[in-house]
Amino acid sequence: MNELLQHLDRHSTPAKALDEPAPDDSQLKLILKTALSAPDHGRLHPYRFISIRGQGRHRLSEIFGRAIQQREPEVDAAYLKKQKDKPLRSPLIVVVVAHLIESPKIPEIEQMLSAGAAAHNILLASNALGFGSIWLTGANAYDRYVCGELGLADNERIIGFIYLGTPTLDIPPRPIPEVSNHLSYWE
Ligand SMILES: Cc1cc2nc3c(=O)[nH]c(=O)nc-3n(C[C@H](O)[C@H](O)[C@H](O)COP(=O)(O)O)c2cc1C
Repeated sequence: MNELLQHLDRHSTPAKALDEPAPDDSQLKLILKTALSAPDHGRLHPYRFISIRGQGRHRLSEIFGRAIQQREPEVDAAYLKKQKDKPLRSPLIVVVVAHLIESPKIPEIEQMLSAGAAAHNILLASNALGFGSIWLTGANAYDRYVCGELGLADNERIIGFIYLGTPTLDIPPRPIPEVSNHLSYWE
């Protein structure tokens, strides 16, 4: 029951309201162990993670900057800075990468869903450990240059950038829709 209530309380924290300390390496490994326990047709574990902290965030910031300049060559300096500052907002970013495996039985969509479930487990586990988190994508997640710089192969896709840290804001409970609006019965 406690776990269920904790899941009802899950919420995202804006990336700019995530500060040090972030999960340390052993806490991150525990969080990622829960990610690896996500449902997974065929036990392919079709995903991997990239942990980015410290100077790594500055490398990602430069990559985001170059990607935006390629997509929008006319971009003004203020917008460019805002985009480059994004990876610097939180102390830790976990990039969740779907690693799609050719399989006659398990289509890509199922593998992407497994990777999404792994990403969600990262949110739940980080919240359970008292950390805040948010799952972000945006154009950079689907940018070939960004994917290349992060070392993704042709069969890999970015599922999300999960920003992690200690919340500096109290987030009010978020409204949860009425279950009855999303449920029908066949009995
Ligand atoms: C696949 C995926 C991608 C998302 N990308 C973004 C994003 O780029 N920017 C954003 O503001 N929220 C994004 N979100 C939504 C946030 O992660 C978050 O769920 C939302 O702000 C609502 O907050 P809550 O999780 O507390 O309900 C994304 C969510 C998912 C599942």
